[in-house]
Amino acid sequence: MVRPQKSPKGLFDPYYVPEQLLHRDRELDTIDGIYSDSYEEDYGVNCLVHGITGVGMTVFSRYFLTKLIPNRFDAHTVYVDAKRKDLLEIVAELNDKIHRETNRPITVAFDLDVLWMQFKRTAAEAKKTIFVLDNIDETNEDVYLKLARLSKEIRASTIGVLNSHDYRLLTKQPATDMAYDFEVPLDTYTQSQLYEIVRMRVEDTFPLGLTDEVVRYVTDLVCEFDASKPKTSIEALKALWPLASRGQEIDSDIVRSATSNITAFGLDQDYMEIVETVAMNDFMTLLVLEAMTQHLMLYKTETYIDRKTLNELVLIKCEELGIKYARDDIEKSLQTLIFQSIVFESGYSRNLLYVLTPPEVLYDAALSMRRELSRRK
Ligand SMILES: Nc1ncnc2c1ncn2[C@@H]1O[C@H](COP(=O)(O)OP(=O)(O)OP(=O)(O)O)[C@@H](O)[C@H]1O
Ligand SMILES: [Mg+2]
Repeated sequence: MVRPQKSPKGLFDPYYVPEQLLHRDRELDTIDGIYSDSYEEDYGVNCLVHGITGVGMTVFSRYFLTKLIPNRFDAHTVYVDAKRKDLLEIVAELNDKIHRETNRPITVAFDLDVLWMQFKRTAAEAKKTIFVLDNIDETNEDVYLKLARLSKEIRASTIGVLNSHDYRLLTKQPATDMAYDFEVPLDTYTQSQLYEIVRMRVEDTFPLGLTDEVVRYVTDLVCEFDASKPKTSIEALKALWPLASRGQEIDSDIVRSATSNITAFGLDQDYMEIVETVAMNDFMTLLVLEAMTQHLMLYKTETYIDRKTLNELVLIKCEELGIKYARDDIEKSLQTLIFQSIVFESGYSRNLLYVLTPPEVLYDAALSMRRELSRRK
């Protein structure tokens, strides 16, 4: 596959459509089948695309509209994002776009009914059109209903896009007459699928790339803390982009701060206090935390430490301090730290461990607690 030239557009343009839409083959086949039939048999279909916020609804509908339809059918395409627009704005945009598609002069109007009549006439006279209305919600559902009904009359088609919340609200009520023939639910991605999506976006946008470790870390956090939403991963990349493009090395501190809002709830904690409760009289747990964070402080570009390395580091520390240890103790301590959400296991491999807090903070807490314990003994 030929990649487009690297451009930050892939991070900053909310309507950006990548060359390839990853892991949506089944859904694309479904929607392609539905619209092919309607095109060939000359009738209109109305379809709803829905999923949790940030899962990739906009990109799915725009990919179908801009990459697939032009290659398959001789049809007009009109995309309108209804988000935070009033009815007049939405209808004006529909009207504007259908006139542009069909190369017809537009008469200026500021009245909703007049605009709708203009739109209706031009849409009816146009060849087959597929309309996408993105971000349908309670405030604009009427426009979608009108559009869907009109489409049936004039044998055009619509794709309504809405998030799961609005989908339930608008379609599951008894009185609803949300007009649609099919629905295409979009599921969240698995960890490895999300990784590939993020990796691809890095390759499309970052002049010097990012290490696999950074991509994996971002993916790990989004899977663990934000329902595997690609949108959150792209937000994290956006925060890294200005630094990376200036040539700054992206170390784990930078990645942690760029992702801190994903994990914000955990960062308000008083770490000293938590470490204190966790490790009350638990010398080994403090030692494990100390060894782990010391390693991460030393190797700034590493976001993970593997269990084997950690074991070795703890053994060295034990020898230095003349402490007897059992291998099981290390694992038990790790389980305590994981249970208390101080240390996390990577979703890729349980063998990889990471922290959310700057390692310095944890290191200081662990070290001073351990000294305190030694003094008391
Ligand atoms: N399958 C995929 N392949 C490549 N990129 C994807 C894929 N799914 C999502 N993305 C990317 O994830 C980001 C979020 O997607 P998008 O904006 O479509 O989400 P959304 O569901 O419309 O979110 P919102 O709820 O904010 O409307 C975009 O940058 C999009 O390009
Ligand atoms: Mg969207």
